[in-house]
Amino acid sequence: MRALRDPSATCPWGGEISHRSGPHGPGAQYDLSMTDALDTRSHVALLPPGAVAPLAQRRHLVTEVPGPRSRALHERRNAAVAAGVGSTLPVYIERAGGGVLVDVDGNALIDLGSGIAVVGVGNANPRVVEAVTEQVARFTHTCFMVTPYEGYVAVCEALNRLTPGGHAKKSALFNSGAEAVENAVKVARHATGRDAVVVFDHAYHGRTNLTMAMTAKAMPYKNGFGPFAGEVYRAPMSYPFREEGAITGEQAAARAIAVIDRQVGAGQVAAVVIEPIQGEGGFVVPEPGFLPAVADWCTVNGIVFVADEIQTGFGRTGVMFACEHEGVVPDLITTAKGIAGGLPLAAVTGRAELMDAVHGGGLGGTYGGNPVACAAALAAIAAMVDDDLPGRAKDLGELMLARLRSLAVDHPQIGDVRGRGAMVAFELVHPGGTEPDAAEAARISAACHRAGVVTLTCGTFGNVLRLLPPLVIDEALLTEALDVLADAVAGR
Ligand SMILES: Cc1ncc(COP(=O)(O)O)c(C=O)c1O
Repeated sequence: MRALRDPSATCPWGGEISHRSGPHGPGAQYDLSMTDALDTRSHVALLPPGAVAPLAQRRHLVTEVPGPRSRALHERRNAAVAAGVGSTLPVYIERAGGGVLVDVDGNALIDLGSGIAVVGVGNANPRVVEAVTEQVARFTHTCFMVTPYEGYVAVCEALNRLTPGGHAKKSALFNSGAEAVENAVKVARHATGRDAVVVFDHAYHGRTNLTMAMTAKAMPYKNGFGPFAGEVYRAPMSYPFREEGAITGEQAAARAIAVIDRQVGAGQVAAVVIEPIQGEGGFVVPEPGFLPAVADWCTVNGIVFVADEIQTGFGRTGVMFACEHEGVVPDLITTAKGIAGGLPLAAVTGRAELMDAVHGGGLGGTYGGNPVACAAALAAIAAMVDDDLPGRAKDLGELMLARLRSLAVDHPQIGDVRGRGAMVAFELVHPGGTEPDAAEAARISAACHRAGVVTLTCGTFGNVLRLLPPLVIDEALLTEALDVLADAVAGR
């Protein structure tokens, strides 16, 4: 396992690596007396300025999960928050650091979700905290479209440098992944003068009107929310576990291209938008050769090839961007999630001539590239590079895949284990076939939650359990989480 810088002293989020014990385990690191009343104010906020107690990297439960304070908050939430906004595990978080989430009851949980692939650099990464604190004291907003500032420019320079391809690139910043996808489509349509957008089975691109149309799964993302934006066409994905027979990546690409040709014709297509590894759709890793063949076909036909790396980007899959696994250079790349250590920021980066095709004022938004989010992104990107977090993701992935593969030997409900780097999943099926078993995925995930490990499910059929730990997670902590997961799979 690749070590983080100076691993003997402190974790990069400022917490001690050593597993402290005490009457409250990790609770010893913060003042439990403050939770005597149901007080939703942050304990950190009550400490003297600048004095944030280190958070031990340790799982420790002091109540059932969710505990009484979380349940009380949940009642308030049910009265105040729209029912359509869900939560996977309703424990109310008060503090987090590295790979640990601490709830209002004092339970310390291991985070295998990273807030859906966001806090790759670790929750409350100290470099991000410092950069944000400094920026927030200088200024919080001017609107880049009114009076600009350097942080926005510096983030674009970093993205232009780090994304695949040595060609001239430019970037534009936004607030969310869906907004980045919408803007990539705007750029592609403007640059090509064409309307059609091609996406794939099992795709997830967001919840705005256009991105709902681009997303494949009806429930919960689309049902009842139509009509959707037009000129969106769907092609078959390469999904090795669910193919009826052996099919190479190139053959799967030819199958997709034939469907596109039949539905709309290459000459009408502005953009093909694809996740190099599908996220919400089930961590689907296409057969090698699929992505390059689709990208080559786009090039030949003057179609903008857009890699949606919102979930896969920033080291998550063991390289900075997942396209690099197959040497694919996208025309445009959308990023968000892992870019800014938890602050809302998203981007479209791509060929300068495409990005510059749009008239002045055609791209933007009030908050896009907010200065505080940009400061966070610069600090997060520096941490990724300096601490070789892509390399660490690779090591974590090897650890997780080995463990899951050995688990699959004894548990026939695990139909497939797959993933790249620290983006790993297993698919639950009825033993002996490939029929999805969503109930089994839900059962295992719920057992992990009760034992203090935050896991997420995904997949078109809801039967995939995905693991997305922070890339800085302590190896011993990850191993402990995998022990909990193994017990959950075995029903122990
Ligand atoms: C591949 C991909 N694209 C787009 C999005 C939408 O991002 P956001 O939720 O920030 O709008 C997501 C979110 O999960 C995603 O995984």
